[in-house]
Amino acid sequence: MNILGFSILYLTAITSLTSTLLIHCEFEDEDFEHVGEFYSCNIENLVFNPDENSPANFIGEHTNSSLSNDDVKAVKTDFHRMIYFPQSINDTFKNLEVIYLNDGFLSKITQRDLQPFPKLKMLDLFENQLEVLEENLFKYNLELISVWLSNNRIYEIHAEVFDHLVYLRFLHLSGNACVARTAREGNRTEVLELIKEAKDGCAPGKVIITSTSATNRFKFLNISDSEIKLFDTERELKEFEEEFGDILHLNSEIMKEFQDLKDQIWELRKTNKNLTFFIFVLSIVVVIMSIVIYAGHKRLRDYNIEGIAKVSMSRLI
Ligand SMILES: *[C@@H]1O[C@H](CO)[C@@H](O)[C@H](O)[C@H]1NC(C)=O
Ligand SMILES: *[C@@H]1O[C@H](CO)[C@@H](O)[C@H](O)[C@H]1NC(C)=O
Ligand SMILES: *[C@@H]1O[C@H](CO)[C@@H](O)[C@H](O)[C@H]1NC(C)=O
Ligand SMILES: *[C@@H]1O[C@H](CO)[C@@H](O)[C@H](O)[C@H]1NC(C)=O
Repeated sequence: MNILGFSILYLTAITSLTSTLLIHCEFEDEDFEHVGEFYSCNIENLVFNPDENSPANFIGEHTNSSLSNDDVKAVKTDFHRMIYFPQSINDTFKNLEVIYLNDGFLSKITQRDLQPFPKLKMLDLFENQLEVLEENLFKYNLELISVWLSNNRIYEIHAEVFDHLVYLRFLHLSGNACVARTAREGNRTEVLELIKEAKDGCAPGKVIITSTSATNRFKFLNISDSEIKLFDTERELKEFEEEFGDILHLNSEIMKEFQDLKDQIWELRKTNKNLTFFIFVLSIVVVIMSIVIYAGHKRLRDYNIEGIAKVSMSRLI
């Protein structure tokens, strides 16, 4: 690349810093287990824009002049922690067959993210923070062979996520909240069994665990005795689960409603307390008034007695 080209690249990079997600690729041939060797953008460096909707900008030099972005079949990192799925990645790399973003902080992936890649063979999001696999997530990725989602926090998998993937032979789901198993590699029978297991165990609304990602705290409600437990770490929760087994989990929607209910109860209690105090004050006022009235009445009665006495006396006289 000549000086001018490099300067333009550099300028682009600098201006990009403020508005986009900037990804620096090291282009090379990379071998991906079970799916083969692909010309790959191995992420060398990246700068995140806090806005997760900002488009991703890729820079880097191809290994030779006959290669272009259209030849890039894979994007890989297992070192730079992605905090969101790079948007508009298909504007740069149209022909991805492998998306490999390991060991990051991805908390969601959507059908929209994957739709542009009908030839996708491998999706590897090992060790991220995914929680829900949305309905028809892989609707447009019919050629998937290998899906690695181990060590995430998946607690919900919607129907029809894996069913139509007839080439899927590698499915890794171990280390998740609602399913924690991996099918034996390459065994389609086991993959089908695991899909069924995930369908049963991760059905939405099966009252599921929730994590408030921001604080990384876990909550669950024990329906049978209406007890709420808070876990500081996922490990704590897992240990608890191992000990107590079938715990009913809550999905975030229910959890929110539950929180609202708790707030309402709290509000009610407060009102109740105020009411109690009001009644207490009122009672005191009533008591004082009673005493005053009684005292007044007594005086009156005494007076009357005196009067009667006087009358009687006068009668007597
Ligand atoms: C360019 O690189 C590709 C992939 O590494 C290789 O197949 C091709 O032969 C190279 N072309 C030239 C002209 O070196
Ligand atoms: C990239 O994908 C988005 C969303 O699916 C689509 O709207 C856009 O047209 C695609 N861009 C290209 C260059 O294909
Ligand atoms: C695949 O798994 C099933 C069930 O565990 C087993 O019966 C079968 O022998 C396996 N097939 C191969 C080729 O390993
Ligand atoms: C939930 O409550 C029931 C009834 O009190 C109790 O037997 C059970 O152990 C509790 N489960 C957990 C996980 O605390």
